[in-house]
Amino acid sequence: MNQQEMKELTGTGAVDALVKSGMKLGLGTGSTAIHVTRRIGSLVAAGKLSGIRAFATSFQTILECEKWGIPLYSLNAPELGGKLDLCIDGADEIDTENRLVKGGGGALLMEKIAAYASAAYAVVADETKLVEHLGLAFPVPVEVIPEARLPVRSELEKLGAEVILREAVRKAGPVITEHGNLLLDIRFKDKIDPVRLEAELNHIPGVVENGFFTRIRPTVFIGHAEGTLEIRR
Ligand code: A5P
Repeated sequence: MNQQEMKELTGTGAVDALVKSGMKLGLGTGSTAIHVTRRIGSLVAAGKLSGIRAFATSFQTILECEKWGIPLYSLNAPELGGKLDLCIDGADEIDTENRLVKGGGGALLMEKIAAYASAAYAVVADETKLVEHLGLAFPVPVEVIPEARLPVRSELEKLGAEVILREAVRKAGPVITEHGNLLLDIRFKDKIDPVRLEAELNHIPGVVENGFFTRIRPTVFIGHAEGTLEIRR
């Protein structure tokens, strides 16, 4: 299987294993999570799934839900009451303890709010996302209030991070997140403690959120190149 096929295998497999009628669902962002939304949409359209109330973590996901007629709500709407039964999302890196780096698509803020508001959490990924240690290869995004760009940058450098302001593609200048902020992508040379860093980064004034997801351990659905779906709890 190529990577696209692995992404579809895992997205579809997770929905078939976990999603039931009547659930309050958090829907993730990215090229793997979109298969989750598509699968749910096709089951809703076929009348095989009903009563779904969904919260979308980005415009990408909102648009996909609109295509399929999946009912969307604010997390604060009475229909959701600030709580989800299940959130399914992609990831950029997954370590051996199912801790994650997320935010390659820039949607980390809503993705973390949805994940941490959910009774159950599942991640869908192809096998290329598996790593021994987080934060050494794929950059970890830190969402920052624009005015705090330089003070935050120097605090991140003091922690030993290499820092890059994320640049937009097909727009001049930096990426502006869906919440009007900037993204500083950080990478470390030596092994780090992701649990400690997840908390520590958010203590820097001006940091809104960071891409370490360590406080909720997901069930991970991994698509393998030979066409198998591994479920790691
Ligand atoms: C979006 O902000 C991310 O957290 C994605 O879930 C993550 O980058 C994985 O994306 P892909 O499935 O497109 O690799």
